[in-house]
Amino acid sequence: MGKAMPHGGGGAAPPRAPEGDGLETVAELAQLRARIAAWRRAGLRIGFVATMGALHEGHLSLVRKAHALADRVVVSIFLNPLQFAPSEDFASYPRDEAGDCAKLRAVGAHLVYLPSAEQMYPEGFATRVAVGGLSEGLCGRTRPQFFSGVATVVLKLFNQVRPDVSVFGEKDFQQLKVIERMVRDLDLDIEIVGAPIVRERDGLAMSSRNAYLSASERAIAPELYRTIRELAQEIAHGAAIDEAIGAGRKRLSALGFVVDYLEVRDSESLRPLTQLGSGEARVFVAATLGRTRLIDNVAIVRESQ
Ligand code: PAF
Repeated sequence: MGKAMPHGGGGAAPPRAPEGDGLETVAELAQLRARIAAWRRAGLRIGFVATMGALHEGHLSLVRKAHALADRVVVSIFLNPLQFAPSEDFASYPRDEAGDCAKLRAVGAHLVYLPSAEQMYPEGFATRVAVGGLSEGLCGRTRPQFFSGVATVVLKLFNQVRPDVSVFGEKDFQQLKVIERMVRDLDLDIEIVGAPIVRERDGLAMSSRNAYLSASERAIAPELYRTIRELAQEIAHGAAIDEAIGAGRKRLSALGFVVDYLEVRDSESLRPLTQLGSGEARVFVAATLGRTRLIDNVAIVRESQ
């Protein structure tokens, strides 16, 4: 697929970034729609990455993937209040709009969409999107509002951006499955693509929330991945799932993690598994270290696979 020059197409002119700068910044929905319409008239394929900002290499890998799959890449930055419970970290969530835009510019994103909370959820907003089944276990058990908040904002962003393809990270594997289900169930004409987890050199999955970790917690945090990777290997070599999980829980608790869940589930249906079946299985974990909630997952790869 040919890549056109930035700012391709005609139509109504949204605010343009300075000459030589490929990144447009748009806050108003009408301006976003005008730019997207112009790109569509020019026959360009639109890629989309939804974020809550505080961007790291994991987010940038999604943008690069979208770049490879589309002619124009739109990234939204919107800290979505609907997916936070009152007791959670909405108020303290890291924010760095200028730094985020610089990173997006460096990886060649074309447009950053920064809607206000008033624009996304005006007075009287009353709709919630609920994806049954897949939303209910794992993170859905202790964060019951979370996936409906995610599905509502993602559907709204999809309707605003109208992308051809949208990329989501596999770190939030359950979120990826919930969004795939929503897109299938509601006949949205959008290709959903998953992208592999990006890790620090010591294995810790990149996350905006890693910034909350103290130095001593940061030293322990990679043990989360080490533990689930070892569990996945043991189970792949025939260890009983319940015994391996029990030992993994003990190990994490001894290290100071408060384990929310540590489970083996089918990678497609997310059904809990007590033994491996024919489909791909994954180890999923969520645990709190100090005040930081960390999640991670890893595929169980059997010798024969
Ligand atoms: O994964 C995230 O950052 C958020 O859940 C998302 C998809 C941007 C929705 O707010």
